[in-house]
Amino acid sequence: MGLPPVPFYDAARALLPYREQLHAALQRCLEHGTFVLGPEVQRFEQSLANYLAIPHAVGVSSGTDALLATFLALQTDHGAAAPLQPGDDVLTTPYSFIASATSVLRAGLRPVFADLAPGQFHPSAEEFERAWTPKTRAVLVVHLFGEPLDLAPIAALCEARGAVLVEDCAQSIGAQFADGTHVSTQGIAGCFSFFPAKNLGALGDGGAVVTRHDGLAAKLREKRQHGQAKRYQFETLGGNFRLDALQAAFLGVLLPHLPSWLADRRRRAHNYLTQLGDFAAKHPDRLQLPADAPGHAWNQFVVRSNQRDQLQEALKTAGIPTQIYYPSALHQQGALAAAQPPAHLPEAERACQHVLALPIAPGLTATEEQRVIDAVLAAW
Ligand SMILES: Cc1ncc(COP(=O)(O)O)c(C=O)c1O
Repeated sequence: MGLPPVPFYDAARALLPYREQLHAALQRCLEHGTFVLGPEVQRFEQSLANYLAIPHAVGVSSGTDALLATFLALQTDHGAAAPLQPGDDVLTTPYSFIASATSVLRAGLRPVFADLAPGQFHPSAEEFERAWTPKTRAVLVVHLFGEPLDLAPIAALCEARGAVLVEDCAQSIGAQFADGTHVSTQGIAGCFSFFPAKNLGALGDGGAVVTRHDGLAAKLREKRQHGQAKRYQFETLGGNFRLDALQAAFLGVLLPHLPSWLADRRRRAHNYLTQLGDFAAKHPDRLQLPADAPGHAWNQFVVRSNQRDQLQEALKTAGIPTQIYYPSALHQQGALAAAQPPAHLPEAERACQHVLALPIAPGLTATEEQRVIDAVLAAW
């Protein structure tokens, strides 16, 4: 009998050590009976803001709603920059989860895609500059897979051209820039997801927007309650983007453990990089490893291969599940057709054909980790 498959991510296993604390949080919520927003959410918002060293965190219902609330709030008089106008262009990456761009479109703005920098998972400042349109008023960057982007050149471009910078940090909580500050703190706002498979996952959906700006934080709080400025006074269009108290209570239990999970992810990534390094150097057509960075949060460990499908099949046979993030780029998605994207963005399309994510999440045993490495080396 063969070995059982390695899990790609097993949330029940990863949360096993925290069950007692999570039960206590559930018990507390049952006792006070406040299930939407309220003190649990306020407490978690404060802990998150402290962790990220930023003044404001606004808990919302998902990473998608974090982005949507942000792009709605940026169209109000929030005081931190001139408001975006309906129909303005938001430059972004074509290589991300669908919500990065659909949230822009749903907020009445137009996502405009800049192709990836060659061999990278994100456009650089040059690609954004090339894709700039007369109506570009914002740039949305995505710290994909937990990789902290070097934002200085992109922030300088935004500053020079009068655009605001928004950070999609859904996959990158805990990632740090070269100066040690957290992703989410360089843009006008940073958006997080607490989907269970993220580095900090709830026991359901959840998200947050963080910002340095008092006025924008206030508008975000309005937007998550249908645009409510005062009780039953709705000044602008918003939605129900509220964070549940239960999820906030669970996240409050889990947040203090994030640094140790990040250390675990980094150690695992370095093991993969070390043990696969020689093979990748000799066979770049078969295996290209992701770039390392001290502040990388390694939500995903994504390799590239010119023979990706063969590699994926061989790993599957060895009981190693993998994922393709992403099989299609955003300019190829019907949901974004209204944005009139370009027909082709070759670097993004190439990435879609070559990428493969290996298991890296906490809970993987040392034996399972070694099986992943051995299976990659034996795949050819
Ligand atoms: C880059 C990115 N942005 C936004 C989201 C949306 O987050 P959520 O699933 O919490 O709505 C995700 C989630 O997968 C994501 O990966």
